[in-house]
Amino acid sequence: MNHQPDKLVIAHRGASAYVPEHTLAAYALALGQGADGIETDVVLSADGVPVCLHDLWLETTTDVAERFDGRTRSDGHYYAIEFTAEQITQLCAFGRVAREDRPALPCLLVPSLEDLLRFRQLLHRTTGRLFTLLIELKAPHFHREQGKPLEEPVLEVLNRYGCNSADCGVILQSFDAQSLQRLRRELGTHLPLFQLTVHPVTSHQMDEIAAYAQGISAQRWLIEDGEGNPVEGGELASGCHQLGLKLLVWTMGRDEDAVRRMFWQYGADGVITDNPDVAVNARGQET
Ligand code: G3P
Ligand code: CA
Repeated sequence: MNHQPDKLVIAHRGASAYVPEHTLAAYALALGQGADGIETDVVLSADGVPVCLHDLWLETTTDVAERFDGRTRSDGHYYAIEFTAEQITQLCAFGRVAREDRPALPCLLVPSLEDLLRFRQLLHRTTGRLFTLLIELKAPHFHREQGKPLEEPVLEVLNRYGCNSADCGVILQSFDAQSLQRLRRELGTHLPLFQLTVHPVTSHQMDEIAAYAQGISAQRWLIEDGEGNPVEGGELASGCHQLGLKLLVWTMGRDEDAVRRMFWQYGADGVITDNPDVAVNARGQET
């Protein structure tokens, strides 16, 4: 693993403020803007392949409805888990732009996690740069219910690409504590694990998290409110640091001052942002 700064800028679904989320173009732009890492979400295809998608269904960000008209479940969604990896990775990803605005965009494909790992290897081989890869396992409970646990296929592809040690630059995160504990205790991964949360974390909960994880990924509103004021109980960084945990904060955007405060006032070890260029600037301007 090459050297990474103490305070990380991690691109949320790539440079998703500028280019459709979860495309190789969005990931590449983020790195061009100086991001240290990429955050990606993964869900499984019908044939058990981890693909880079935020939603469990495809119609919100791709042209699946045009290509596979009617292949929905009874709730009207085109679930990724109903389509093969080959079918999913040939869809065009448009991010969250309105459907009527899609024709103006180029067709950018949906990558699999393996595509992203190959991209990471290529960049390493050609530039010496090895970016941090923060992988969010999406809805592990849903995948278990569907009879397709998510954890094993993710570890399998990471293993195949030599990403299985604590210092290989890959981090796994999830909202699902059970899934993280399973990854650590049952599946024996050495990768750093981060607990995602939208809820305040008590000191007792923090002790529990420290037993299986290396960090917490906290929603920004747990630290400060929309007016830029610290919230009660928002001293998460010091609590984390006392236990040797890192703190990442999400999701930052265009507000450079807010990112600066996260780094330099509240002590976050990293931000996950839609606007990596803004965060890189903010990091360089300690107040
Ligand atoms: O990385 C944190 C953030 O990605 C969690 O929320 O909904 O964007 O996956 P979401
Ligand atoms: Ca995510």
